[in-house]
Amino acid sequence: MKNIFPEDFLWGGATAANQLEGGYNLGGKGLSTADMIPFIPKEERTGDNAVHITSEVFEQAFEDAGDTLYPKRWGVDFYHHYKEDIALFGEMGFKTFRLSISWARIFPNGDDVAPNEEGLAFYDKVFDELAKYNIEPLVTLSHYEMPAVLVQRYDGWADRALIDLFTRFAETVFHRYKDKVKYWLTFNEINAMPLAPYNAGGIINDRFDNIDQAVYQALHHQFVASAQAVKLCREIIPSAQIGCMLARLETYPETCNPADVLKALRQDQMNFFYTDVQVRGHYPNLIKKHFEAENINIEMGPEDEKILAENTVDFISFSYYMSFVESAGPKGDRAPGNLFSGLKNPYLESSEWGWQIDPVGLRVTLNKLYDRYEKPLFIVENGLGAIDVKDENGVFQDDYRIDYLREHIREIGKAIAEDGVEVMGFTSWGPIDIISVSTSEVSKRYGFIHVDLDDYGKGTMERTKKKSFDWFKQVIASNGEDL
Ligand code: BG6
Repeated sequence: MKNIFPEDFLWGGATAANQLEGGYNLGGKGLSTADMIPFIPKEERTGDNAVHITSEVFEQAFEDAGDTLYPKRWGVDFYHHYKEDIALFGEMGFKTFRLSISWARIFPNGDDVAPNEEGLAFYDKVFDELAKYNIEPLVTLSHYEMPAVLVQRYDGWADRALIDLFTRFAETVFHRYKDKVKYWLTFNEINAMPLAPYNAGGIINDRFDNIDQAVYQALHHQFVASAQAVKLCREIIPSAQIGCMLARLETYPETCNPADVLKALRQDQMNFFYTDVQVRGHYPNLIKKHFEAENINIEMGPEDEKILAENTVDFISFSYYMSFVESAGPKGDRAPGNLFSGLKNPYLESSEWGWQIDPVGLRVTLNKLYDRYEKPLFIVENGLGAIDVKDENGVFQDDYRIDYLREHIREIGKAIAEDGVEVMGFTSWGPIDIISVSTSEVSKRYGFIHVDLDDYGKGTMERTKKKSFDWFKQVIASNGEDL
């Protein structure tokens, strides 16, 4: 593919603090909601019990952990290895590195009077290190975690008080890093709230009589907080760009039966609801009808609609791993995803975790998003989780990962060159192995860089390049020509 990707295309990798950093109790950091999620071995996992936690499990995590393992507490120890890791990203030629700032590192309890200087200094060091390699940080303000104390005191995002607390956090980091960070995202996969309310909003199901009401109210608070962050970012760092982040769920009808088509359309519309609010600045009529039908009443502050309307995002970022199928008829076999699921698509292959691999679906999705919003798009997560094993020469020959990424990047190229879609960049998920969000395993690996660590926290943490390391380096060096 020749001269397809723009000169300033942002190639790189994406991570989240709670899956990467470790050092959960160092430098004055408070416990975060992610630190409370126990590891459940595969054979004991039922449904989504690795994602939903009960009040009992949550409270227990404050006490002596006993034999319980909390993998997101140790991550892959980027806290101590950041120089080495960033040097490897630099060697691959990254133009950008997506990371999140742990709110609990800056405000250990979330509602502290003053920020924690040691936490702020940690990210200064990380950003300075990135600058040495000309890597632009792409910072997510909230990626599936918040200070755990906010769950105890406020029931997480269900409480409107969180808007101001989060806004203060955002304002603090905008001021502190205004000369170091140009690209910002507000909430990771903001559409995860209904399906993974604990991860997304610190909401523990058993604390609410009407969980749907709580979830959509919490989501509303995040929409307003996101818009407030956009406003502050524009005031404090006028040259910055700030975007929203959606887990894009591309959904196909099972057949051309109009009832199936309508069902798939509905799924798509429900997925676009989140970007509709953040890009167009208001709730779509369809969701208002849905709330009426489900008896959900969103309590709004007097200024909320104005805040949403006046502070829409500069660009749309999204994760894309797989596509989904829906049918109006009886449900067939369902294929899993990290937090979502759909019907099986007979035309697609699946990953070892059953995620259906669909590169063309990425082109479809890029087109749909661009048609709908005409805003620059940024693919901030895509990649293949797999079990990596060294060959007899001690090399991780991860050709399956290279194939996956190559085919997806090829489709992005087509969307740019043939469809005229504006794409800002591509950050592959987990450029270094990290802890899985859905299962808390590390053995589900996405990295170009292997980390010597097992699911039980054992290992040397040694970093080793996989075959895909040199491949991605060559993709970046050739600006996407040499795939
Ligand atoms: C996305 C999340 O949903 O998927 C990431 O934003 C996550 O945090 C990624 O890690 C992959 O999911 P998993 O469950 O394989 O880690």
